[in-house]
Order: sequence, then structure tokens, then C-alpha cells
Amino acid sequence: MAAPAGDGYAARMNYRHAFHAGNHADVLKHVVQLAMLDALMRKDAPFFVLDTHAGRGRYLLHGKQAGRTGEASTGIFQLTGARKPPPVIARYLRAVAADNPVDALVAYPGSPLLTAQAMRPQDRLAACELQPEEAEALKALFDHDPRVAVHARDGYDAVRALLPRAWTASASPAAQFLVDPPYEAQDEEYPRVVRAVREALERWPQASCAIWYPVKQRRSLQPFFRKLEGLPARSLLLAELLVRPDDSPLRLNGSGMAILNPPQTGRGDRPGAVVPAAHARRSRCFDPAGMAEARNPVERGLPRCFWRSRGS
Ligand SMILES: C[S@@+](CC[C@H](N)C(=O)[O-])C[C@H]1O[C@@H](n2cnc3c(N)ncnc32)[C@H](O)[C@@H]1O
Repeated sequence: MAAPAGDGYAARMNYRHAFHAGNHADVLKHVVQLAMLDALMRKDAPFFVLDTHAGRGRYLLHGKQAGRTGEASTGIFQLTGARKPPPVIARYLRAVAADNPVDALVAYPGSPLLTAQAMRPQDRLAACELQPEEAEALKALFDHDPRVAVHARDGYDAVRALLPRAWTASASPAAQFLVDPPYEAQDEEYPRVVRAVREALERWPQASCAIWYPVKQRRSLQPFFRKLEGLPARSLLLAELLVRPDDSPLRLNGSGMAILNPPQTGRGDRPGAVVPAAHARRSRCFDPAGMAEARNPVERGLPRCFWRSRGS
């Protein structure tokens, strides 16, 4: 399933998240991640999070790498001045602010740090990172947090190594799997994602699983979506944030979170209600079948959020 140890995969990897931290893809990913965690925390029972591609946990927004790309200007920096943001965005902004000095935005918390900040004493996080320097930084970040286990290893392999062989659906504790690969070699990454998620859901059938994916040219995503539809989950929700038309294979036009077994949000309607709510003023919602527009006109020039769901 995974790249064999010692084949130099980690060394060949060019991707460093520091160049991209806080961009529009991170915004979507982390808004959804926190909304899912909040849904898990509606119950007192402990939950478990597996973050298969964790990164280093904290990034400098004005550092050399982020400064070179300026990507956060299309992401977190677009939201900081928002007056009366919808509750899920406000919650996300509070989580980012918690990692920064008052009235300044210099650091951006990555997915494992956001999880750890949200977790209660009874919850647990396993965070995997393959790139040695990133893994070292992550270990240092959580050195004194006994709730967090950092694994310097392949996140796909971790599914087999860290998850129990088989929970029965009724006995399995609440769990969230986050799968956030760099997609450097896209043709190889998609099958690995699907295989690992299938195995994870076979082992932990009730878990909610969120997979981040890039949106470049829309039609190239269809085979991936079809594979996701075939996974053993109750329902599938796609939440996307687009910053430009999805017709160029060369640019990151937006991104999505494919959520299998989305947790109930407690809003009383659909499992995905949280995502349109997150972008209420800047979203366009589509029905599952035809992607026909359902409500919420797009404000010209602002990012858009699409969603569709299967089942409930
Ligand atoms: C998009 S970044 C993760 C960002 C992080 N999830 C966040 O939201 O803050 C992807 C990370 O996965 C790491 N990586 C790549 N392939 C991996 C693998 N097979 N297993 C574990 N980590 C991997 C990269 O080094 C990189 O740090």
C-alpha cells in the first residue's frame, strides 16, 4: 500500500506545507475539520483522531517560505476583517487567534494543533508525518502533551499499524480520520488514499473520514468521486471552496473535503448543513443529482462553496 521504507520516498518529496499555510485550501480544510470535531464533542465519550498527513503543526505566516508565495492572502487574511462571520467561521478564527498574540496574526496552526487545541483530556490524537524534519518539529510541539502521539511514519501504513483490526459498528468509539496528502504525484496518490480509507472504514465503520483534494480541472476528479462512492460508508459529502473556475489543469482553482460518514451537526437537517452554513454569504449549494443550483447566490468575485451528499 505505502511506499516501502527506505526507498527514498521521503527524500524525494518536495512538498513543504510552510509555502501554503493559511491559504484558501487550509481555510476550507480547517473550518470543516473543526466543525466535525465540535460535532464529536457534543457527546462526553472520548474520541480518537488519526491525522495521516499532519505536517509540522505550526507555520509562520510571515516567514521566508510563506512570504515567498503570499498564499495566505487568499485565505486566512481574507477572513480576519470579517464583520459578524457565520458561527463556524467565527469558531475557526477564534482557534487561529488562540495560537497568536492579541491583535496579531503571525502563526498559523496546522491540523494536528487545531485538533489538540480542541481536544478534551479524554480524547486522543495520532499524528503521522513522513518527512523527517517536519516530523521532528511536530514531535517537539507535542512533547509535553500526553494526549498526542506523533509517528514519524507513512500515514497510509499507519491505518494498518495503529487502528484496531475490527471494531463492530456498535462498539466503536467516535473517531475522525483526516487524510491530507500533498498530491505531488496525483495518479499515485488517489489510489493510495482510496485503499487506505477503505481499510480504515472496514476497521472502524462508524468513523467520520475527511479527505482533502485539490480542484483543478473538474472532470479529472470524477473517477476519484466514483471510487469514494464505492467505499463502505453511510454517506458522502463533498464540500468545496473555489476561488476561480475549475477548468484549468495547471492551477489550484480551489479544493474540497470529501467527508465519509459526516457527523450529525445537530442542526436538524442534513449532515452537511455545517458547510453551507460556514460560507453562508459566499456559497452556492447544489443538489446531489444534477449539481443544480439550490440556493444562496454567489457574491461576485468571492470564493464559492459547493456541496453534495449521498444518503443521510
Ligand atoms: C498538505 S501537508 C499537511 C498539512 C496538515 N494536514 C495541515 O492541515 O496542517 C501534507 C504533509 O504530508 C506529508 N506526507 C507526504 N506523504 C506522506 C505520507 N505517505 N505519510 C505521512 N506524511 C506524508 C508531507 O511531508 C506534508 O507535511
